[in-house]
Amino acid sequence: MTAQLEIEDLTVAFGAKDAPPVLDSISLSMVQGEVLALVGESGSGKSMTAMSTMRLLPHGARMSASAVRFEDIDVLRASDRQMNRVRGGRISMLFQQPKRMLDPTATVASQVAEPLQRYLGMSRSKAQSRVVELLHDVGIAEPERRARSYAHQLSGGIAQRVMIAMALAGQPELLIADEPTTALDVTVEVQILRLIAAKRAELGMSVLFISHDLGVVSAIADRIAVLYAGRIVETGTTEQILRAPQHPYTQALIRCSRLAREADGSLFVIPGDVSSARAVTSGCRFRARCHVAEQEHLQHVCESEEPGLHACGPGRASRCWVTLETRRSA
Ligand SMILES: Nc1ncnc2c1ncn2[C@@H]1O[C@H](COP(=O)(O)OP(=O)(O)O)[C@@H](O)[C@H]1O
Ligand SMILES: [Mg+2]
Repeated sequence: MTAQLEIEDLTVAFGAKDAPPVLDSISLSMVQGEVLALVGESGSGKSMTAMSTMRLLPHGARMSASAVRFEDIDVLRASDRQMNRVRGGRISMLFQQPKRMLDPTATVASQVAEPLQRYLGMSRSKAQSRVVELLHDVGIAEPERRARSYAHQLSGGIAQRVMIAMALAGQPELLIADEPTTALDVTVEVQILRLIAAKRAELGMSVLFISHDLGVVSAIADRIAVLYAGRIVETGTTEQILRAPQHPYTQALIRCSRLAREADGSLFVIPGDVSSARAVTSGCRFRARCHVAEQEHLQHVCESEEPGLHACGPGRASRCWVTLETRRSA
C-alpha cells in the first residue's frame, strides 16, 4: 500500500549552525485510514514533527528533509497557496487548549461554518444549517443552542467537541491531533478519544495522534512511534509496543503511564529530564537515564556510539544496543 504521508530524514534546528537539532533525521510513514501515535515526554519534538508536515514551523526554524509528502503534495516544494489549501482542508488539526483556539468574539456557528464556506464552497445559509448537523454529529446536546454560544460559555470537553466538528467540517483525509485530551478531565478524555476513534472509522481518515502518555495513545493507535530528544527510538504496532517494549525509554514510559501503577499506587517517574539529552554529542542520548546502560559490559558502547534504529521484527525497530545485542545472540 502506498503511503499517504511520508516523512524521510526530517531535521529541524534553531539558532546557531552547530546547535543540536530539535528533530534529528525523523522518518515516518502512514497509510490511509490508520492511527499513528507519536509519544514522548514534553520537549521530545512531537509538535515540531506535526508542524513540519504542514510547513508551519515557528519563525527561525531551519527544516531539511529528503522528503515530506502528503498524497500528491510535495510539502517541501509546494507553493504557499497550495499549502494554505491543504491546511484546515485535507489536513486538519486539533490542539491541547480548545477554548483558547476558539475566537472569543465569534459564535460557535460562525467558526464552524468558516471551513464549510472556505473549503466546500457552501453558501452562508447552507453552512449555517450544516453546522447544527455537525455539532449533533460530535455528540453535542442541543446543537441549535450551542451554535449560538461563545467560547467562554463552553466546558473544555464541549469546546473540544466543537473543535472536532470544525476539524471534520472540511472532510480531512488526515487529522493531526496534538495532545487533544491533555487539558481535560479523565472521564471527558475517554469520551473525546471514543469520539475521535468513531469518526476515524466513519470517515476513513487517518489520524496522527500526539501524546506524552502511552496509556492515552494505547486506546486509539494502530501503530506507535516513540520519540526521545528529537530521535525516533522505537516503532511498532500498539500491541507490540505494549506487550514487549524493546527500548528502555519505552519501558520507562509504560511504567510511568497510567497503564502501570507501582505497588504502592504511586506513579513511576523517569529520573532526570530530556532537556540535556539533545546536547549529548556521543553515544546514546538516553544513557544518562537508562537503567540498562548501567550494566557494566554495555557502558562503553552506550557512551561511545549512538545506536542506529535497527529492525527488530516485521514493522518494528528500536534504537538500543541491548536490543541489538539480544537479537545477535539469539
Ligand atoms: N521557537 C523555538 N525556538 C527554539 N527552540 C524551540 C522552539 N520551539 C520549540 N523548540 C524546542 O524544540 C523542542 C521540541 O519541541 P516540541 O516539538 O514542542 O516538543 P513536544 O511537542 O514533544 O513537547 C523543544 O526542546 C523545544 O525547546
Ligand atoms: Mg507539543
